[in-house]
Amino acid sequence: MSGLESLDKPVPPEKLEELCVAAMLKAGLKKKHAEITARVLVSTDLWGVFTHGTKQLRGLLKNIRDGRLDPKAEPEVVRDVPAAALVDGHFAMPMVSSTRAMNLAIEKARELGTAFVGVTHSGHFGAAGYYANMAAENDMIGLSMCNVEPFMTVPGAKGRVLGTNPIAYAIPAGEEPTVFLDIATSAVAVSKVFAARARGEEVPPTWFVDADGNPSTDPSKIDDGAMLPMAGHKGYGIAVLIEVLSAVLTGSAVMSEVKSWALDLPEPSNQGHAFMVINPSVFMPVEEFKTRVDAMIREIKSAPKALGATRIYLPGEMEWERREKFLKNGIELPSDVVANLKLMAEEWGVEL
Ligand SMILES: NC(=O)c1ccc[n+]([C@@H]2O[C@H](COP(=O)([O-])OP(=O)(O)OC[C@H]3O[C@@H](n4cnc5c(N)ncnc54)[C@H](O)[C@@H]3O)[C@@H](O)[C@H]2O)c1
Repeated sequence: MSGLESLDKPVPPEKLEELCVAAMLKAGLKKKHAEITARVLVSTDLWGVFTHGTKQLRGLLKNIRDGRLDPKAEPEVVRDVPAAALVDGHFAMPMVSSTRAMNLAIEKARELGTAFVGVTHSGHFGAAGYYANMAAENDMIGLSMCNVEPFMTVPGAKGRVLGTNPIAYAIPAGEEPTVFLDIATSAVAVSKVFAARARGEEVPPTWFVDADGNPSTDPSKIDDGAMLPMAGHKGYGIAVLIEVLSAVLTGSAVMSEVKSWALDLPEPSNQGHAFMVINPSVFMPVEEFKTRVDAMIREIKSAPKALGATRIYLPGEMEWERREKFLKNGIELPSDVVANLKLMAEEWGVEL
């Protein structure tokens, strides 16, 4: 018995972290780096964002095996001015470079009121939400973003032009939960199309277009299709901003220069990331700010409900509720995540 069968039942988060750390140690990561990465991925699962949690570890470890990420690398601050910095990830595990950069932005914003830290020579950092929430845990507003290889079309174009560039913000509240939005700038993350294909389900026609540029509900057509931007030209416009802040500005690979982290390619993906922090205490005492955020949340939630609706959610609220439930009862991992973790455990010879 390898213990892996217990993944089929609700799994305690610390057990899942242990499994991830064990696999990363086998892949040559330092213990500290493995623990940081496991924390990011398991926290993402705890929110129920299963497409970007521990399911991604197998692919990240394959990047290490293929020499696209360096398990021994240490991210390095290569440019440093009072309110901004650039971190060279040296192709370390992207979660390690990203948490290092966000921690630096938090330290700087604590002193200076605001900070921007970019990362270059990195790879797939998972869900943007984890890093933005690091700032909120420190009573500050956080923003995080990343560029990705082209998978999304733009108005007027045929085929893939830009990445599905994710962005997240997190805003600390007082008595209410932190407000956080964590999204791709495509209609949805492309992994949701792959997940639908794996389950044999159709997808809404608003998610992607096929090779001829026609909306499709058949997820198998994504192979030569392109994701649609969220809200048309608006998602496209925000994806351009993310490309500039994460990649043009940081000296990372831009658009077609980015090599997909998920394909069998020899080169690193060389994605860039951007992290921003705003310290509310520049404007007013932080408790006053959080009370004002609470008031905003309560006004939104008390709006008259649409016909048939019972509840208005704030961004992040569904994730906090799932987290509370999973912390209490264990994480109910979907079958595709379990299958991936079992394959990873076999490949690296680890047990639970
Ligand atoms: N690293 C990468 O390459 C990459 C690329 C794209 C996306 N992603 C990640 O994929 C994940 C999923 O992205 P997505 O675009 O499919 O997300 P999504 O469309 O599921 O939106 C999720 C966000 O919307 C909020 N939300 C959902 N319904 C709501 C409602 N009714 N009211 C208020 N808020 C609501 C959630 O709280 C959450 O913040 C994110 O974690 C993102 O960072 C990563």
